[in-house]
Formats: sequence, C-alpha cells, structure tokens
Amino acid sequence: MDKLAIHGGPKVRTEPIKTSGMRFDEAELKELKEALDQQTLFYWHGNKVKKFRQEFAALYGVKHCHMVTSGTAALHVATATVGVGPGDEVITSPMTDQGTVIAILAQGGVPIFADLDPHTYNIAPGGIEPLITAKTKAVIVVHLAGNAADMDAILPVARKHGLKVIEDCAQSYLCHYRGRLAGTLGDIGSFSLNDFKHISAGDAGMVITNDDQLGARAQLYLDKGYARDGSGRRPPFLAPNYRPSELHGAVALAQLRKLPAIVARRNSLGDRLTAQISNLPGIHPHKVLDGCESSYWFYLGRMDPRVLGVSRDEFVAAAAAEGVPVTPGYIGKMVYEYPVLADHHAFDNCSYPWDGIYGRNVKYGPGMCLVAEEIEATSWRCPITEFMAERDVEDIAAAIRKVQQYYVGAKKAAFQLSEHSRSIS
Ligand SMILES: Cc1ncc(COP(=O)(O)O)c(C=O)c1O
Repeated sequence: MDKLAIHGGPKVRTEPIKTSGMRFDEAELKELKEALDQQTLFYWHGNKVKKFRQEFAALYGVKHCHMVTSGTAALHVATATVGVGPGDEVITSPMTDQGTVIAILAQGGVPIFADLDPHTYNIAPGGIEPLITAKTKAVIVVHLAGNAADMDAILPVARKHGLKVIEDCAQSYLCHYRGRLAGTLGDIGSFSLNDFKHISAGDAGMVITNDDQLGARAQLYLDKGYARDGSGRRPPFLAPNYRPSELHGAVALAQLRKLPAIVARRNSLGDRLTAQISNLPGIHPHKVLDGCESSYWFYLGRMDPRVLGVSRDEFVAAAAAEGVPVTPGYIGKMVYEYPVLADHHAFDNCSYPWDGIYGRNVKYGPGMCLVAEEIEATSWRCPITEFMAERDVEDIAAAIRKVQQYYVGAKKAAFQLSEHSRSIS
C-alpha cells in the first residue's frame, strides 16, 4: 500500500490542476461591437438575440427558441407557459439549483420531490407515479451535471397522467439521449447561460419547444404579455419582463459557436475518468445511461463507507491531499431542507401556496428522499472542463485509486487482526 499524502507520503500530483482559462475572446468582442453599432440594444429591434435564437433552435432541431434573462427565468416562463397555477403540484428533483424551485413557487405551484436513481442522480424510474395526485400538473426533469435522466421511463408516466414535461437542461448542454437531445424530449426545455455553465452570457437563459402554442405563450410570458407580432398590447395574463438585451444576445451567439467543441472535450475527459475508476470496490463512477452521452458539467462519483471503512469526508480529505481538486458532495442539503420550503415561507406573513385554500399542506424536511440524501452524504465531486488535459483526469483517477486501495487494504488488515486476536483469545 502506498503511503497516503495525508499521512506524509508523496502526492500523486504536485502542481495545481488548471480548470479554467480564456473563454471570451475576439469572437465575443466582434459580436458586441456589431450589437452596439446597431444603435439599439432592444431584443426585438436588433439582430443578435434573433440570430442567437435561430442558431440555438437549429442546433437543437426545434421550431421555437426564446431567450430570457436567466435559467430561473427560463424555468419560470416554462412553468407559466404549460399552465402551472396556484396550488398545482409540480414534481421535480430535490438535488437541483434553487432556480427550479423558484419557477414553481413563482406560479403559486407546490413543489413535490421525487427520489433519485442512486448512480445517475436523476429522478428514479418509478419515482414519479406514486407522487401523482389530482393536483399534479407538470414534472420538471432536471438533467443533472450534463447527464440525461431516464426519459424512456418518465415520459410514458407523464403522458398517461396528462402531465406536462419541462426539462431543466441548465447543466446539460448537448446532452445526448438515445439519438435525441435532452431538452427536446418533453414539452419544453430550459437552459441557463449563467457564468458557471458550459457557455455564458454573464446571465441569461433559453426555452425551446416544438409546440407552436407553447412557443407563442412563452414569448408572451417573457415580455410582460405584450405581443410583438403587431397584434397589439393587450396582455392576456400576468407576465414578468425577462427580456434579454442585444449585449446578451451578442455574447451568447459567439459562445454558442464554441459549444460543440466544449461539450466534445468534456465528454471525452469525463468518460476517461469513468474508465479509469470503474470496477474499484467501494467506488461508484458517475453513471451515464446506455445510449446516452454526458456533457459533464461536473463529475459526481460516490464512495461506499462500508467497503472503504472510512467516512466520505475522510476519503475526500485523503484524495484532496494527493493534490487533486476533489470536494465533498454537491449541494450540501436537499432543496426541501431550505427554510423557504421547510418553513413554508415563500411569501411573508402567509403560508401560500400551502395554505389549504390553494395547495396541499406538504411538509418538507430531512427524510423525504432517502436515496438523494444518501447520494449527497456519500458523493465526491471534481471538475471536468475543456481547459483540463488528459493527464489531469488521469491524476484525479490515480488519486482516487490510491486512496481506495489504501483504505480497502487497511480495512482488510484490521479485519484480519481482529480475526486473529479472536482466534487466540
Ligand atoms: C439545474 C439548474 N436549474 C436552474 C438553474 C438556474 O439558472 P440561473 O442561475 O441562470 O438562474 C441552475 C443554475 O445553477 C441549475 O443548475
């Protein structure tokens, strides 16, 4: 057994792993200059947002793409567009960004959480149907970390019960699902261009759909209910202003053209890591479903404390001491543990939408989704970015292997010692 760095042994990796680099360059500058030269930054008058929408729709092979100010705005537009209203229940994943939850609550909807598959970290097949009530209106499927959820299991259940399906692809650009792209399988797909995503416009987002009616409603929901097709300013419902500016369109356009190369690189590095840590007792790689390709927004593996004989935090501390960027878990707590849900505090001085007049008095708190909580408690995360080299991923794998071998060996030695002392006592 090699001596671990945490015990004073040599590190697997001595220089830092570079995970970031130049993502904006002359291409973005050129688009920005052209946007300013238009002498209007209004999305409906300029050409940058329009061009971006066209190119994104073409890349995804869909009829409609709308650009908005954030991924949260995209999800809000999507939930409003499919008709979620006060008291309607929306089933989603507990391991997601708060933006998913905001979109439901902003429409007065009640979030309901489905448990996850232990290794893809997406909603488990069979996780949705038992949660459906007469109030269930929609499902927001989160494709976590670039990895597609099991849509072949989810879609038939949704169709059977007449539920709308929104795909939250904020973390999953160009994520392939059995010959199709995540975001085009349900009724509406949503995306984020916040600064941490595969591509960034600072902040912005998109919704895509093939449904003409939903496409038209989404346009109204992102723009105060104003029809911009000349049919007049008569907002048919309450709708916020989530309009992007031409500056966002310009940067997004240049970024979009870089996306296929970014995703191809991440896919190859992430799969390389998986190949190098597969079949190690006590280690579970990030599982990608058969016929699917992950675009790895990050890499989330798991360790089994029973097999390794140490806690997740001890394992992560040992791996990080080897000089690689391994950190514990993903979001710390499930979103249903946040005060906004646990305390029914979406709005001040009332418990709307859980007040009984509108929605069910759902109690949120630890224990709701046991598999998801177990994932968070036993997972380790590392970055996968287009700026990393093959050697970086190999060193991460080597650190995981070294630490795994050490603890499996130490556990075996401790077991043999206890057997031995039992046999002589
Ligand atoms: C899964 C998921 N959904 C929604 C969002 C919200 O996106 P934004 O930050 O652009 O509002 C994020 C952002 O982190 C996300 O990761």
